[in-house]
Amino acid sequence: MGGFAIGSAFDSKSGQMIMAALLLMIVSFYSGTLFGNNAPLYISHLPSPSSSSSNGTSRFTNKVTLTYRKTPLAIPETGVDVCPLKFNEYIPCHDVSYVATLMPNLDVSRKEELERHCPPLEKRLFCLVPPPMDYKIPIKWPLSRDYVWRSNVNHTHLAEVKGGQNWVHEKNQLWWFPGGGTHFKNGASEYIERLGHMITNETGDLRSAGVVQVLDLGCGVASFSAYLLPLDIRTMSFAPKDNHENQIQFALERGIGAMISALSTKQLPYPTDSFEMIHCSRCRIDFHENDGILLKELDRLLRSNGYFVYSAPPAYRKDKDFPVIWDTLVNLTTAMCWRLIARKVQTAIWIKENNQPSCLLQNAEQKLINVCDVNDESKPSWNIPLKNCIQVRNSNAESNKLPPSHERLSVFSERLKKIGINQDEFTSDSLFWHDQIRHYWRLMNVKETEIRNVMDMNAFYGGFAVALTNFPVWVMNVVPATTKNTLSGIFDRGLIGTFHDWCEPFSSYPRTYDLLHANYLFSQYKNLGEGCLLEDIMLEMDRLTRSLGFIIIRDEEHVMSRIQELAPKFLWDVESHLLENKEKKMETVLICRKKFWAIL
Ligand SMILES: *[C@@H]1O[C@H](CO)[C@@H](O)[C@H](O)[C@H]1NC(C)=O
Ligand SMILES: *[C@@H]1O[C@H](CO)[C@@H](O)[C@H](O)[C@H]1NC(C)=O
Ligand SMILES: *[C@@H]1O[C@H](CO)[C@@H](O)[C@H](O)[C@H]1NC(C)=O
Ligand SMILES: *[C@@H]1O[C@H](CO)[C@@H](O)[C@H](O)[C@H]1NC(C)=O
Repeated sequence: MGGFAIGSAFDSKSGQMIMAALLLMIVSFYSGTLFGNNAPLYISHLPSPSSSSSNGTSRFTNKVTLTYRKTPLAIPETGVDVCPLKFNEYIPCHDVSYVATLMPNLDVSRKEELERHCPPLEKRLFCLVPPPMDYKIPIKWPLSRDYVWRSNVNHTHLAEVKGGQNWVHEKNQLWWFPGGGTHFKNGASEYIERLGHMITNETGDLRSAGVVQVLDLGCGVASFSAYLLPLDIRTMSFAPKDNHENQIQFALERGIGAMISALSTKQLPYPTDSFEMIHCSRCRIDFHENDGILLKELDRLLRSNGYFVYSAPPAYRKDKDFPVIWDTLVNLTTAMCWRLIARKVQTAIWIKENNQPSCLLQNAEQKLINVCDVNDESKPSWNIPLKNCIQVRNSNAESNKLPPSHERLSVFSERLKKIGINQDEFTSDSLFWHDQIRHYWRLMNVKETEIRNVMDMNAFYGGFAVALTNFPVWVMNVVPATTKNTLSGIFDRGLIGTFHDWCEPFSSYPRTYDLLHANYLFSQYKNLGEGCLLEDIMLEMDRLTRSLGFIIIRDEEHVMSRIQELAPKFLWDVESHLLENKEKKMETVLICRKKFWAIL
């Protein structure tokens, strides 16, 4: 492995310039190890007679051409086509031009246009998404929290409109993130401290208030999440793909966990009872509309004794219709039996207390709220319309109280027990992944700091992510919507993740993960037909993976041999290894690595 890295990331002159700029601000020892030093191999859009040119740049036979998904699917002899350069940010299910064609049928008053809308198969591209011009191997964590390559996310809009609020500034060939946000110009740390004080009556911080998992709605460039890490708090951050261009792309380029999503007409793809805190700062979500249906979704996601932190003009302004909106919010939250515990410095905080069943039943009797029918929690929240009701939970939920952050990793959730998983199976899964991680890193043969953004595409109980706790990574745990809901169990271990149906592309930008792990993912989808054929899933893997990123695959033998055959056509290098499976039998593990190529 690693034989395809040639040359240097930047010519020495501009390289020196960046270094000079950085050295002023950063401890110098970072620079050598945390910048990539790889140059791409090239794909020519002109027919090329040989596969390698004399000056050391390889060429590939793949054609650059706009190619749609045809049925039946055929992969060209020359390799999978490469999409034209202008598709370098292609996100199939958040494609503005496709959504525009749906507009007449979308409920714009509820911002339905911001949700996922996947085009039908024949309108999906079936070509490899190329990197933009001048793409560089991303800067490594932790330096990436503050600096990313400018050309990797070539969008000036955010810096123009949000620079004054310290979201992001331009600095030569880099973007610089000072750690601010609209509501926390002076940096997220100070803001996080203030929230801690508000929640604890000045006696503690968010950690002592029991906050372990946070959902950040409309997260911007996700500085809030980055600065919660020192408190051992894990955050799921999302934002829609809207006029705040590419905020999620910035977040992921920085190495901070985030995805594209929107709170609109459907349940968010996270399980019930998953967060101790939901945060919406400088919130532009209309919670007071539609009988508070969006607040009811937050109620579903909050654990008992969880907080809703809201900062927006209705919480502090006395002009226009803000006071009426505030009154509506107070009426709605009161009916839901939330208690307002603090309101100052433009921020309001509610708590969803756990002693509310009697309160809820009383309010239901007075027709202030509706109580939901008993909800089948074993079913993933995927494509489920929002419900205008509150679920009444058992008040002895206290017995399921989860321990603090670190101990939470080994929790065997009641909710896993309910879907028929036994504790021995769970424990042996944890041990198994602990071992496998050591093998994986040995076989990938890269420094730990090379890998930051990780996705476990078929996460089961989260054992893979738990085994990575002491690595400098974050893990998006994905539980396929076609399986049983084990994601609740993953959240109960203090980890984050999402439901997803791999028959559709994921809600992320291209080139956002350093490592994808697909443990028996393909075989789960083998009978689901067009759209989730092995080739479709490989194409989506390729889109999500950064140049020189890894894809680790385990599956049934016939799947593995097919992938090995196809990998070169996707411009992946592939190595086959044998490792023990859970039954202590040897099985094949493919370590694939996406080449660093670019259109010449
Ligand atoms: C290598 O050759 C290609 C095509 O002949 C040219 O465009 C490219 O600039 C060359 N690269 C270097 C590093 O000289
Ligand atoms: C970045 O975008 C600007 C404006 O769209 C364009 O002129 C420029 O060539 C782009 N730079 C790179 C490196 O792609
Ligand atoms: C803080 O203390 C006041 C006065 O004792 C009390 O009314 C309020 O509920 C407390 N707030 C919190 C968040 O505990
Ligand atoms: C809030 O509830 C009160 C009491 O029921 C009612 O008088 C008031 O009109 C409500 N306010 C709004 C904005 O709905």
